[in-house]
Amino acid sequence: MHGMTRAHPLPLCHGRYNADSIPAPAGALPHAMISFSGQPLLLDTLGRPLRDLRISVTDRCNFRCTYCMPKEIYGKDFQFLEREQLLSFGEIHRLVRIFRDHGIEKVRITGGEPLLRRKLEKLIEMLAFYDDLDLTLTTNASLLKLKARALKDAGLRRVTVSLDSLDNATFMAMNDVDFPVDKVLEGIEEADRVGLTPLKINMVVKRGVNDHSVIEMARYFKGTGHILRFIEFMDVGSTNGWSLQHVVPSRELVAHINAEFPIEPADPNYRGEVAERWRYQDGTGEVGFISSVTQAFCKDCTRARLSAEGQIFTCLFATRGTDLRSLIRGDASDDELSAAIGRVWSSRTDRYSEIRTEATAKLRKVEMSYIGG
Ligand SMILES: C[S@@+](CC[C@H](N)C(=O)[O-])C[C@H]1O[C@@H](n2cnc3c(N)ncnc32)[C@H](O)[C@@H]1O
Ligand code: SF4
Repeated sequence: MHGMTRAHPLPLCHGRYNADSIPAPAGALPHAMISFSGQPLLLDTLGRPLRDLRISVTDRCNFRCTYCMPKEIYGKDFQFLEREQLLSFGEIHRLVRIFRDHGIEKVRITGGEPLLRRKLEKLIEMLAFYDDLDLTLTTNASLLKLKARALKDAGLRRVTVSLDSLDNATFMAMNDVDFPVDKVLEGIEEADRVGLTPLKINMVVKRGVNDHSVIEMARYFKGTGHILRFIEFMDVGSTNGWSLQHVVPSRELVAHINAEFPIEPADPNYRGEVAERWRYQDGTGEVGFISSVTQAFCKDCTRARLSAEGQIFTCLFATRGTDLRSLIRGDASDDELSAAIGRVWSSRTDRYSEIRTEATAKLRKVEMSYIGG
């Protein structure tokens, strides 16, 4: 199906896609757009194309990070998805093929903890078939030392590892299962050794919890070639007790790091890049800042999320998704699936981070471990 042209039931724009032509969300559609494969490009109501797909392969995790899966909610009685509820690798592969026709260039495998999904390297191998697809994965690295080689051999390009502190006590309190820092660092070393690079390291910064670890993290990763990214604590889901008081604004972190290691802004790699890039003035690498709370990037957001049971979401802060699994299992054709995806994207209006308030933060949003972080 990929590469075939077919009649599309939805209004589409024509002309070459140029990310710089994405307008601020004022409502007007950009006029000059086709997809990289030469097909008419699907746009949402704010003129944003569909470029990235995050795929959650499991809603389970072996960590209980307090900002993501707090133990009080995700205890032993919590009802996770059953195996038959999960999309199979074949179903995921089929959807990726159809999403590609809508312009997807990048796929990130996530969860929950994606490395808990059995034989994940099989899925990687299936998706790596598309050699122009930027294929990557986000992990807590608990199983990375074990799996890095197989993932690389299967065709994975890079990984992003989450690590919130180098201080063992702080990290163990945040993952809440006493998982030690050393094991994560071993996973990072192995991923580096097998060439899953450049590695990115995600650190969620929570005021009063791990903000004292920021400089130590910067010092550790400076000069390694790994890119440390500081993420503002976000009000994803509705169980992590989010409050603005716990958010350390990126501006504050930039000043803090700059005082220790002078940094200067660097150009984005592409329009709509989520992390704002800064480089060390002494040439020893760069750091990134993801500021979804204090500097919303909705106007350039080109991301859709596919949950482990096949619901598509068009925003990390969504309150509901659209079920694709029942279509697949109800024998829908590729064209029917494609039209369903098209309908979802072309009616997309999301810009949650731009309109966030303490009140919207209390909405019953879908949990990040389910929707895929
Ligand atoms: C949901 S996790 C899934 C992948 C994998 N389990 C991991 O931790 O890397 C993806 C990313 O979301 C981040 N995350 C989770 N909850 C968050 C929150 N409330 N605010 C900001 N980032 C969050 C995690 O730190 C991680 O980097
Ligand atoms: S952030 Fe990742 S590792 Fe932590 S609980 Fe959420 S899914 Fe698990």
